[in-house]
Amino acid sequence: QAALVESSKKAAAFQAVKDYLESTFQHVGIGSGSTVVYVVEAIAELGADITSKMSFYPTGEQSRQLILAAGLRLAYIQDLPPDASLDVAFDGADEVDEDLNLIKGGGACLTQEKIVATSAKKFVCVADFRKISPRLGTSWKKGIPIEVLPMAADRVLAELKAMGSLNPRVRSGLPGKAGPIVTDNGMLIIDAPFSPLLLSKDTESGIEGGDGEDGIWTVDALAQRLINIVGVAEIGLFHGKNGLQVERGAQKPVAAYF
Ligand code: A5P
Repeated sequence: QAALVESSKKAAAFQAVKDYLESTFQHVGIGSGSTVVYVVEAIAELGADITSKMSFYPTGEQSRQLILAAGLRLAYIQDLPPDASLDVAFDGADEVDEDLNLIKGGGACLTQEKIVATSAKKFVCVADFRKISPRLGTSWKKGIPIEVLPMAADRVLAELKAMGSLNPRVRSGLPGKAGPIVTDNGMLIIDAPFSPLLLSKDTESGIEGGDGEDGIWTVDALAQRLINIVGVAEIGLFHGKNGLQVERGAQKPVAAYF
């Protein structure tokens, strides 16, 4: 299984770069996680003739190191004029549903990832077969990652419980370290599981509503509710309303390769 997963990640990454990195591009976002390692490998293999005209924008320390190690030009999203866009951004995901909504943040870089993703004209999510999920929450048991200000963590936890999240908790357990994981932004991550049913679409199975009443949420309604909790900086639900350019081709989804 492990070898199959690695070969799937690599195949998806090389295919994504082949299909969506145009040689005329100048500004390219590079996300976080183990799949993105193969994205950078595929880009570096294109050679300096193509890549030397491009700048690469990381979503955190890991992707910054990847860009540097591959000999690619590093740039920072805060230096891109606000009226300019990245040509494309590549990133992984923890879970992808049929509408190409994503759960991200397994690596605790979700805020930077969302900034880079929404700064790009096209966002290409590279994911292996394990990530597809008919409803978000089905396969990724940890829940939705939520970045919170440390002083608000307990209040946010209480609010999430009141909303029906099943055992939300502050993420901890960095290998060899005690205490909570602190993000690059000095904040904490809460993982908030919601049962898959809570994330079902309101059109599905004749279920009405979706605004949390009777414990049923649509992705959009839940995302809206979570981001409005005071003390929440960003959430790991990436969905259509963020302005992400996700699209599905006839055969091959742009936002998810399997
Ligand atoms: C990082 O915060 C995440 O959003 C990653 O993109 C996600 O966890 C995918 O990681 P892998 O490619 O390692 O599965």
